[in-house]
Amino acid sequence: MVCHPELVHRVLMDSRTFDKGGPLYDRLRPLLGDGVGTCRHQEHRRQRRLLQPDFRTARVADHTAWMGEEVESVCREWRAGRQVDVSATMLALTTRVVSRVLFCDSLDATTAAEMRGCLATIVRGLFVRTVVPVDALFRVPTPANRRYRRAEDRLHAIVDAAIAERRGGTSDRTDVLGTLLAATRDQGATAITEQEVHDQLITLLFAGAETTALCLTSALDMLARHPEEERRLHAEVDAVLDAGRLPGPHELPRLVRTRLVLTETLRHRPPGWLFTRVTTKETELAGHRLPRGATVLYSPYLLHHDPASFPDPDRFRPDRWLPGQAVGVPHKAMIPFAAGSRKCIGDTFAMAEATLALAFVARNWRLRHLPGHVERLRPAATLGPRSLVMVCEPRAPRPTGTPPPADSPKSRAVAAPGVHDPRTAGGDCVDDA
Ligand code: HEM
Repeated sequence: MVCHPELVHRVLMDSRTFDKGGPLYDRLRPLLGDGVGTCRHQEHRRQRRLLQPDFRTARVADHTAWMGEEVESVCREWRAGRQVDVSATMLALTTRVVSRVLFCDSLDATTAAEMRGCLATIVRGLFVRTVVPVDALFRVPTPANRRYRRAEDRLHAIVDAAIAERRGGTSDRTDVLGTLLAATRDQGATAITEQEVHDQLITLLFAGAETTALCLTSALDMLARHPEEERRLHAEVDAVLDAGRLPGPHELPRLVRTRLVLTETLRHRPPGWLFTRVTTKETELAGHRLPRGATVLYSPYLLHHDPASFPDPDRFRPDRWLPGQAVGVPHKAMIPFAAGSRKCIGDTFAMAEATLALAFVARNWRLRHLPGHVERLRPAATLGPRSLVMVCEPRAPRPTGTPPPADSPKSRAVAAPGVHDPRTAGGDCVDDA
């Protein structure tokens, strides 16, 4: 387990020596295949180059135009005093958003809902399958194993049907599926197989939906525990967003405190909390000899809770990311999206989506824990509240003409290290390696 920011950085920047692979990845392969998240170093650059353009800032800006619609639609059923399953709602939101980017509108509403159900089932069973080294356990036809297997089969079938439908049609939509199918028609070395199209879509669905949902759910949870932070956020969203109007790309640069809250949430509770690499040759790290094939772990959670990098690390304090204060944070200590050539491809996208969603919810609702609420976070493949139920209280709309609050940070605030700023980020880290 690599525990120092400098050493973690060394591991992440040298993906030739510290590659993806080993037992954990072998177990992910039946689900994710050999897509960009699981493939080996020698395959990675080509795959990443293919997908990167769909996640560049300019494309993300196009997507933000409709992200607000999706947030509004998942919160439409909320009513004063109603209990809402925040975890499920946020997963529904992020699955809708990511599937719209992948398949545009190829999935009808029933299939999309079914796909969300499959993702939720698989996410629940995935971690135990990756860490418990006894395959036979998962072949026993228990109800949970059967549910998992059915969900996996159905998800593969839905993705295959979406690919076949698009192939059979005349549409040339500019979504990720369009990009991938165009690459199957390439001549020579850049041509990709039908299997790769499938693997990339499944990888992006998995990588993009649950992580962002947990980030949003954790942020709402933390705000309910920290009324002063919630008040400051409300002041910002009241000043920036008109009640009833959907947030979009124009509001993003002004949602500075919203981004501070999300950045601190990603530090405090990084959804991706533990990852592994495998050494491809004998090497040395911090004076230790590592043989070829050694498993190396790194944990964003561990780095983010090290008092040497973050004073009072267990305290939720968004202000630590204000420009004047963030300068003290060692650059390599904040890695919610990792670093190097395997850095998250969807970082800019996720931050834009989460910022718009959190701002919309906070503009219209205050979410409260149920009386006596205690949630123990159980780490799984990802970290965050998986069954958070809260009570909705509508917020009073701001009277028109009210000036912005005095304590709202100005939009000159910079992005925290390791967190892409949707206003400025380039999003391309292919050449870091
Ligand atoms: C708050 C939300 C998110 C967090 C915290 C997050 C975090 C991460 C982290 C830490 C990694 C590196 C994993 C490793 O080192 O093994 C990663 C990789 C990845 N993420 Fe994300 N992610 C988020 C959202 C997204 C979204 C929205 C997408 C796409 C729609 C996405 C797609 C990917 C992919 C494809 C990879 C593999 C990249 C590669 O190996 O080249 N992620 N993510």
